[in-house]
Amino acid sequence: MRLNGLDAVTLGVEDLEAARSFYRNFGLADGAQGGAHADFETLDGSEILVRGANDAGLPSAVRGGSTVREMVWGVESKDDLAAIAAELSKDRQVYEDAEGVLHSADDDGFGIAFRVERRRKVPPAPNPLNIFGATPNRPINTPVDFHEAVRPAAMAHVVLLVPDVERSARFYQDRLGFRLTDKFKGGKGAFLRCSNSTYHHTLFLLQGEERGLHHIAFHVTDFNQVMMGGKNLLAKGWQPAFGPGRHVIGSNYFWYFQSPCGGAMELTADMDRADDGWITREWDYKPENTAAWSMTFNAPG
Ligand SMILES: [Fe+2]
Repeated sequence: MRLNGLDAVTLGVEDLEAARSFYRNFGLADGAQGGAHADFETLDGSEILVRGANDAGLPSAVRGGSTVREMVWGVESKDDLAAIAAELSKDRQVYEDAEGVLHSADDDGFGIAFRVERRRKVPPAPNPLNIFGATPNRPINTPVDFHEAVRPAAMAHVVLLVPDVERSARFYQDRLGFRLTDKFKGGKGAFLRCSNSTYHHTLFLLQGEERGLHHIAFHVTDFNQVMMGGKNLLAKGWQPAFGPGRHVIGSNYFWYFQSPCGGAMELTADMDRADDGWITREWDYKPENTAAWSMTFNAPG
């Protein structure tokens, strides 16, 4: 079964207006908006679907308050949907909605769904990096445009807190074909990627006593966009959670912000790519393996 990546994520939140404001400031484009729903899109059409925590139509929550309700994984074709339905229906409920989306739940009770990928292929932004001595990537006589809006291109990964990482990871590996790119020793964390994706991780399971959403990451073009996007969020009064910095595992730049959605939201860029030639690494769970470097910014005021 060929899973490509995150096609949509549904969140149930206690303060819909705050969530709406956050994602607009984060740079997502408005989808359908109303009193009980706030839909957003990245450039490639991945969706963030925000609903009130008490919305009766939502998949059940793993905890109280604001949190993730369902992750929709995009697959390559209907054949993949059929394979997933056959596999998951061995031991859990699976149902197909009117739009052909399969819905079920993982071993921790997080809602999972699958649909033929709806994301658009967006042409990558040109590489603006000028390395000394190399042919210029940013053309001669072209300064950086610091007024360019930061628009996340896609969802990069979701990070879930689970009490038993190895057990939870086995479900995604054995039943859904996820690959284990890297792991923290002692069952502290598992970096997993979709079988049909070469991004270092599309799902990270992190050990936590209580289940919940740790964060969702969004791809932006480069380090400058991580910084400019974060600067914009600071100016709007949102509080940073971690960074800016650069991860060791995955090599991606990061800047996390606290959100009103039950977890942080991350701007990220320049992640490692991996295929089945990658050999899984095991890491000690300690700060120097989390960030190669990181700075701390405080919001104005
Ligand atoms: Fe992340």
